Amino acid sequence: MSATSAEHASEGIAVAAERRWAIIVVFIIGLLVLMMIVMALHWAAMPPSRVETVDVKTVHIKGEFVESNLGTVLEPDGKVTVRLIAQQYSFVPQCIVVPEGMPVTFRGTATDAIHGFVVGRTNANTMLVPGFVSTFTMTFPKAGEQLMPCHEYCGTGHEAMWAHVQVLPRDDFLAKARSGERMSCVPR
Ligand code: CUA
Repeated sequence: MSATSAEHASEGIAVAAERRWAIIVVFIIGLLVLMMIVMALHWAAMPPSRVETVDVKTVHIKGEFVESNLGTVLEPDGKVTVRLIAQQYSFVPQCIVVPEGMPVTFRGTATDAIHGFVVGRTNANTMLVPGFVSTFTMTFPKAGEQLMPCHEYCGTGHEAMWAHVQVLPRDDFLAKARSGERMSCVPR
């Protein structure tokens, strides 16, 4: 083989390799774009999951968020639910009791403006929007007292709007909880 034909051969190999890579790269880009299109259409076509509405005008007088139903309840099936409402400028109840190490489902709404809350440095964090029920479930890993400030600007009293959360050791919580009864740590 002469020098030139060897050069031609190696150039041919290089070109073939580059073409192969170009095809792979174009295929990967095409796949990613296709994923984006499918996801975008999927989300645009589906309503946000679990949208629950509640009538702001009657939220205080009937249904799930009447005052006597707010607070923490140990459901007959052993699940723990916390119901609360936010209004300018407080949460009801002002002090919330939850157990350590058990899943707790929060259900909340607002009566006037958009509020929100975060419990200490945990992932318990949501917005409360008038007319809608916000819900999430989480487990508090450690017993102790946490602050729960409103984190959506809701008016002049916003920075004074917060509640307490008492995370009780599981046994203490279960000893206190009577099935079906609403609990809170608001001093009476
Ligand atoms: Cu309520 Cu800020």
